[in-house]
Amino acid sequence: MKSIQVEVKNVLATVSEAEIKALDAEVAAATSKLYDGNGEGNDFLGWLRLPSETSDSLIEEISSTAAQLRSLCDYVVCIGIGGSYLGAKAVIEALSDSFATLKQHNGPQVLFAGQNIGEDYLYELQSLLSDKKFGIIVISKSGTTTEPAIAFRLLKEQLEKQVGKAEASKRIVAITDANRGALRKLATEEGYKTFVIADNVGGRFSVLTPVGLLPIAVAGFDIKALIDGARTMEAASLNGENNCVAAYAATRNALYRAGKKIEILVNYNPKLHFLGEWWKQLYGESEGKDHKGIFPAAVDNSTDLHSMGQWIQDGERTIFETVISVGEQQHKVVIPTDADNLDGLNYIAGKRVDEVNKMAELGTVIAHVDGGVPNMRITLPALTEFWLGQIIYFFEKACGVSGYILGVNPFNQPGVEDYKRNMFALLNKPGYEAESKAIQAKLG
Ligand code: PA5
Repeated sequence: MKSIQVEVKNVLATVSEAEIKALDAEVAAATSKLYDGNGEGNDFLGWLRLPSETSDSLIEEISSTAAQLRSLCDYVVCIGIGGSYLGAKAVIEALSDSFATLKQHNGPQVLFAGQNIGEDYLYELQSLLSDKKFGIIVISKSGTTTEPAIAFRLLKEQLEKQVGKAEASKRIVAITDANRGALRKLATEEGYKTFVIADNVGGRFSVLTPVGLLPIAVAGFDIKALIDGARTMEAASLNGENNCVAAYAATRNALYRAGKKIEILVNYNPKLHFLGEWWKQLYGESEGKDHKGIFPAAVDNSTDLHSMGQWIQDGERTIFETVISVGEQQHKVVIPTDADNLDGLNYIAGKRVDEVNKMAELGTVIAHVDGGVPNMRITLPALTEFWLGQIIYFFEKACGVSGYILGVNPFNQPGVEDYKRNMFALLNKPGYEAESKAIQAKLG
């Protein structure tokens, strides 16, 4: 069975093989908790068997809704935040031409909104769309999140003004809870096409549900291959032998116990920036609890070698790196020979750009390991739907296992509520009168 690989030899100066192996029993116990459903947060385990349980009919329904949006729209705005945004963004960025927004397209461009409250962002988006054929995918599991609700109110009104209510309702798809929340109520009243986010799948584990699959399909990518990749990893990670999920979970926890409190996810491919953002949310919201948890950070190399590289090489030794190494590039660019060689680059003439990039990667790993930064390496053979499906499920499962090893509930996010309470109090939201008084007293 083909699977991504995890290599841990470059952590062994910090934690020994025996120290990693000593976590085997904890990994096994954490994995059993997931499968037996007897750990904390066990009402949010729907993601665990999601790839194998995703039906062909759901994939067909999503594909035909995507085809409908593709036929009606030149732009589809995907509205959502956190887990209702980052998975789709990560996959679309990883698979898209880097300059897709500037090139002629076969299908619509997927844009994002509701992931911030930037007034200029929304103004500029509305002005871009003012003379365009656009549609909306609005995603909110709770159906009550403020950021996407604001973006949806603005864009819904704009779309209805541009094309009328009846046509607008054909171009709007809502993905939300089956029964609860303002978005479900609104979608029912307006007659929108809807997809359901199952109760037992939390936002940051929802990329392989319609939350991620519909925008990815609208962008023109093969969601069946994505699910196939995830299924392969679901099957591969059931196995005790050569289980890359277990190896990653055990190693990062051994490093944490050895004082390495920060994990930096490193890529050498600009298309993976948002995979890093998705991973940060997955691990940050899952593990950062009870004053515990590895702090997830991410860098895009070689760009960030010219900024964060100094800190990583030479700063406080509390970090470790997990490098995502992509095997094959899709395109070939060879560095030309120049007769004058004024730039002194003829020593690499004839080499592919990726060969240089791979040497930057190898040279950096050696330097960082020499500098006291343990390195894990995850090999992703290529940026395709299949391999992305594998790595998504790989990280999700390792996150569940790691969270239980750490002793937290990996599936809630109580800390996210604090800022919301203050924001609602400051905005005088009905129902927050006591909080408004308290916060005004604090502000003096
Ligand atoms: O992982 C999570 O649950 C969160 O990050 C949510 O995805 C995020 O807060 C958005 O929530 P909702 O989909 O309810 O609007």
